[in-house]
Parts: sequence; structure tokens; C-alpha cells
Amino acid sequence: MKRTLGVCYYPEHWPQNLWKEDAKRMAEAGLSWVRIGEFAWSKMEPSPGELKFEWLDEIIEILGAAGLSVVLGTPTATPPRWMLEKHPDMLAIDKEGRPRKFGSRRHYCFSHEGYREECIRIVTLMAERYGKNPHVGAWQTDNEYACHDTTHSYSDSARSAFKNWLRVRYPGSGNDGDISTLNEAWGNVFWSMEYESFDEIDLPNLTVTQPNPSHVLDFRRFSSDQVVSFNSLQTEIIRSYSDAPITHNFMGKTTEFDHFEVGDDLDIASWDSYPLGFLEDRVVAPDEFKQSFARQGDPDFQAFHHDLYRSVGKGRWWVMEQQPGPVNWAPYNPSPLPGMIRLWSWEAFAHGAEAVCYFRWRQAPFAQEQMHAGLLRPDSVDAPAIAEATQVAKEIADAPSVEDCISEVALLFDYQSDWMWQTLPQGRGLEYFNLLYDNYRALRKLGLSIDIISPKEDFSEYKLVVAPGLLHMNDDLKKRLSERAGPTVVGPRSGSSTMHLGVDRPLGPNLPNIDVSTTRIETLRPDMPILIEGGGSVQGWSETLETSADPFRIMSNGELAAVSSGNLIYLGGWFDDEALIKAFSEICLKAGIELVVMPEGLRRRETSKEMFWFNYGTNNVEIEGRSYPPQSVTRDLIKA
Ligand code: GAL
Repeated sequence: MKRTLGVCYYPEHWPQNLWKEDAKRMAEAGLSWVRIGEFAWSKMEPSPGELKFEWLDEIIEILGAAGLSVVLGTPTATPPRWMLEKHPDMLAIDKEGRPRKFGSRRHYCFSHEGYREECIRIVTLMAERYGKNPHVGAWQTDNEYACHDTTHSYSDSARSAFKNWLRVRYPGSGNDGDISTLNEAWGNVFWSMEYESFDEIDLPNLTVTQPNPSHVLDFRRFSSDQVVSFNSLQTEIIRSYSDAPITHNFMGKTTEFDHFEVGDDLDIASWDSYPLGFLEDRVVAPDEFKQSFARQGDPDFQAFHHDLYRSVGKGRWWVMEQQPGPVNWAPYNPSPLPGMIRLWSWEAFAHGAEAVCYFRWRQAPFAQEQMHAGLLRPDSVDAPAIAEATQVAKEIADAPSVEDCISEVALLFDYQSDWMWQTLPQGRGLEYFNLLYDNYRALRKLGLSIDIISPKEDFSEYKLVVAPGLLHMNDDLKKRLSERAGPTVVGPRSGSSTMHLGVDRPLGPNLPNIDVSTTRIETLRPDMPILIEGGGSVQGWSETLETSADPFRIMSNGELAAVSSGNLIYLGGWFDDEALIKAFSEICLKAGIELVVMPEGLRRRETSKEMFWFNYGTNNVEIEGRSYPPQSVTRDLIKA
């Protein structure tokens, strides 16, 4: 399969007499895909039942005639205003009990049955009409589930769906579940929180103080399941009318629902990559770091998501939106350095992407995103990004097809663990995502190529497996981790919780092959790290270990920071960058895994045929006698 480029386009924003010219210019720039439709419900159905698809027929025809292929989005992220007259209670309710009102987007509750019916109706109409259209090459469901904190809704619909979900989860002999099982699982004897029936259970908001963590965790699980079932309603309909692949565009650093489970219902995973917006808005890093990468983005953040969504899509994945210039939504919105649009695009291909689409074609002259750059200026003159996109289009035309990624390391990523950490963080800033990301970054600084996979996947063949912070590990997972022949790093906090977020006894990883338990946990202020002998420190989270295993790292206070038994290493604290790099270097050296220490800003990625090098920095860097200029993409063919 060829590597391809595309763009997100909103024909409904522009006069019809521009469409042909736009299509021609897209094709001339070397683009192959045009995503349309995902916010256009009010144009498809201006009032209830009044259907206007002729404009969509026409633009699909125009794009197809220009040789472009359409990604058709279902418009369910933006129900029109009239929908609220029909379903006044369809809005999501926030944690404070306030409606999340009409006037922007994503104003719906995943649990509202009436809204689900409306979605089924519009998706069926679209699938019937365009399912066999030769120009519709792919479908996108909705737009960025969870974006703008829209997974959790505290509405009446959510409450009644949650109760039904609990009844199934804690089954009894009849239809009504077994409330005593739930009381026990949640530990409701604490503070007299016991229930007599499922009907009494409310959503875990507006409580006087912290709600029961088991209650919150089940609510999070339920909310994730609602997203999964909402999405599958759409994919089932589309599949019954169309053979074109279906995707959903996930958003960066978004963990409120299980992306692997939504991915199970997709043919292709895709994600929306905004490197500069994310650096300012989502990356946790010191100011000097942000300053030095303000116009390039964090050298690991895009790659992290590429490596994640490749697994979510079971090998097939795209970047559905890529930043083309300044965005409008981060605290600061600088322009990318020349060369970065090209670098980001190639980096996605190096991680196995089939397509990279830019957001958006032409900058909008109105509404919320008028300050957001496009490939064209609002007056249709080329914006700087289009030249780089055109260059990439020419380059991929001469480059090999999509290649398989080769990874030495598996980093296990588990959405449930994220919800558990968020529910019981035990200290400020202790987020599972950041723990994972610290590990990822350290591995990448050693030049390693990584797959980010679900713990359910088979990881037996990887040279190294890293599994930090998996709060609950079932017996099967523990067995698979312990049975590995190669080095395996777990912890901190791994395996310490029951599936209901109670304490697993004894506290600690409870892995069959290593004798270690945790006798005490303390969390630390950012300004009180504990040094580790030999370099680096434990920060944020520190465990006191009771063990007969071998010491692996000792802290300056004489206590153990990590222990090992054979190939299994348990980290009893949150290691900083230096400590992680030192630990991984030692482990890899012992296991014969080849490393190359990357200079500041340089990263690499291996595929079945090529080794790619990307310099995110602003300086020329040298490694093994070769120099890498700033913003450069270097490709080495390693296999013909
Ligand atoms: C994405 C979203 C797009 C657009 C873009 C702006 O999150 O999917 O519709 O809003 O951000 O950067």
C-alpha cells in the first residue's frame, strides 16, 4: 500500500463556485484523501426530516472527478439546534450538575437513547446513499470522542444506564443483580455506604467529600463502555452498506475511554496530531524544555501516539489531522519552524502510517477557529504549509510503500490503570499517562523502537517489556510477565490493587517469580526527590520494599529503590529520566540489546526496510561520525 496524504475540508463553509478549483488545487498538491462531512448535520438536515444531500452528492462527485478519494465523516459530534427541541434532555451534565449547552460541539450524552436513535437514523441515511459510492474510500465515525471532557456525563440517562450496567456486572439470581456482591466489592461498609437495592445507586458526583473509589472506577468503566457501544452502533450500520474501511479520529493524551476497545470495531485507527498545541497544552515539562521545542513540538509526543495507534488499529493507522501552522487553542500558538510540517509527516510514515491528512484546507474567516492556520489562507493564497505538503507528496511518490515497524520493546498501556491512578492518585501530579510517557521518552533516548500495546496482547517475543504502574494485574497477565525469557520491568505500584481498586494483599506486585512486597508508600513533593546511588532519583512516588530478591537500585537513604530476580525487575518508585536511562541501559547491555544514545532532539525509528532519523532540535548534531541538520529527516535503506 502506498503512503498517502490528505486534507480536511469543509465545503459547506465556502461558495459552491470554489469547489472545483479547490479540488484541482488539492490534486495538484499531490493529496489523495479529502475528509468531509463530520460537522455538517445542519446542512444535511436543516430541520427535522428535511433532507438535503444534493450538495454532498455534488462535492463528492467533484472531488472524485479530480482523482481524490473521500473520507466521509458521520456528523454526530454536532447535532443541530432543532435536536434539542426534540430531545431537551440529551445534553451531557457536568460533574457540578450543569448542562453542557448548545453553541459549540460535542453537546450530547452518550447514554441518551433518543439521541442514539437520531444517530442511527442519520448514519443509516448516509450509509444507504454513499455506501457504494466509488469516491467514498473510507468512513470516519463522529469526531474525537472524549474531546472537551465529554466522556463522563452525570445526566438522568447516564444514571439509569449506569444502574443497569451495574446489575449486569454484579449478577444475582433474578434480573436485579446482587446488591450484596456490589456492597462487598466496593467496601460499602465503610462510612455506612451500603445499598439495599440497585435503584438507590447514584452517580459519583456532588458528594460531600471524596466518593468511594470503587464507585468512581465502575462509573469510569461504564462511561468507557458507553463510548464503545455508541461507536459500534455506527460501524455496524456503515458495514452493512459499505466495504470501505472505517476509522475514528482519536485525540492526543486522551484516556477517558478504552481506545483499544473502540479500535476493535474499526478497520483503521487514526489520531489528530497537533505537536505545538500539545507541547503547550498537554506535555508536562519544565519551561526551558518547552521554550527550546516551542516551534518543533516535543520530540517524543507524536511518536508515542503513533506507536499507540498502530496497535489500536492492529497495524493499520493514519494521522487524520495534522497541524499546518499556528493553532488557536493552546496557551501560546507559535508557528512551526520551516521543515517541521515535512518532518512530522515523515515521522508518521516512519511509524507505519498509511496516510497523513492536514487540518484544514483553507483557514476559516469566521467562528471559533478563525485564528487556526490551514494549507491556504482565508483569501485562498497558499499558506506556508502547502509547499511542504507538496514536497512530501513528491517524496512519497518515489519512496517505498507502507512498511512494517520493527520494535525491540513493548511498553504496556492500560486504560483501566489510568482510571485507577486518576481515581486514587495519592499525590498531586501523579498521572499514569505521565509515568508511561517518562518510560517511553527514556527508551527513545536510547534509540530503541517501541510498540505501545495493551497488556492483553502477546508480548512474549519482545526483547524487552516495560510495564509501569499497572495497578491491577490479573493472574493471566502476572503469569505471562513472569514466564518471559527476556528482561521485564514492572512497577511502581504494579499489581497492588484488586480489580475494584481495593488493596491486593500483600501490597505489591504479587508476581510468582519475584519475592517482593510493599510495606509502605509515600508520595513526595516535587522538590524532595530521593537520590539513587549511581545517578538519578526517585520522585513523586516511593515504596518501602520487603524482599528476598537481589538489590537493583539503592536510594541515598539506604533503602531499596528496585530489586531483581532473574530477568524480572521491580521498580519501587517513580524513576526520573536519568534513573530510567541508567536502568534501561544496564538491562539492555546485559541482554545484548543494541543501544545508541541520542543527542538532544534526535530520535530514530526502525521499519522492516529503513532506519529513519529525525532532528527536532535547532542545532546540527553528530552521531557516529554523521551529522544531522536541524529539522532534517534522514532515511537509511537497511534492507532492499
Ligand atoms: C481537533 C478537531 C478539529 C479542529 C482541530 C483544531 O481537535 O478534531 O475539528 O477543531 O482540533 O486544531
